[in-house]
Amino acid sequence: MKRLSKTIDWSILSDDELSSNDRKLVEAAKNATSGSWSPYSGFKVGAALLLEDGTVVTGSNQENAAYPSGLCAERTALFAAGHAHPDKAVTALAIAARNDNGFTAQPITPCGACRQVLAETEQRGGKPIRYILYGTQGTMVIEGGTDAILPFCFGADSMK
Ligand code: THU
Repeated sequence: MKRLSKTIDWSILSDDELSSNDRKLVEAAKNATSGSWSPYSGFKVGAALLLEDGTVVTGSNQENAAYPSGLCAERTALFAAGHAHPDKAVTALAIAARNDNGFTAQPITPCGACRQVLAETEQRGGKPIRYILYGTQGTMVIEGGTDAILPFCFGADSMK
């Protein structure tokens, strides 16, 4: 028998501890919540992707009365970036979310379906994605790439 393990590292930073680049990406994610169409949940999510050349692509959650047809903020941004900038790697993702009481105290993390798309986006770009997840009580920064949030994921290589 062989026993193996993985560890996940993350940091919680206050606003003034964030680098100016990370703060800008968080601001873009917060601003992107204004584009959310979320009449059913009332939960407005904004995502801001940083591409390898500095381009920022944003997205927000888009809901439908037929609930499963809607899309999360993260995938809205990822597919927009894949369409407009197919050859540029995604190097960071900032997420912010708010309800009627304002931005969430705790950061939100991407759902499972978004994690799968993030993992495949990362494989395609060949660069680890940094995660900058905003909360009013602190921003969570994950440096380990998507493996930190979706270990053992299925990907194109799995079919070889
Ligand atoms: N949502 C996102 O956009 N991103 C997440 O990471 C979690 C959930 C959206 C989907 C739905 O419109 C609303 O938040 C409530 O689940």
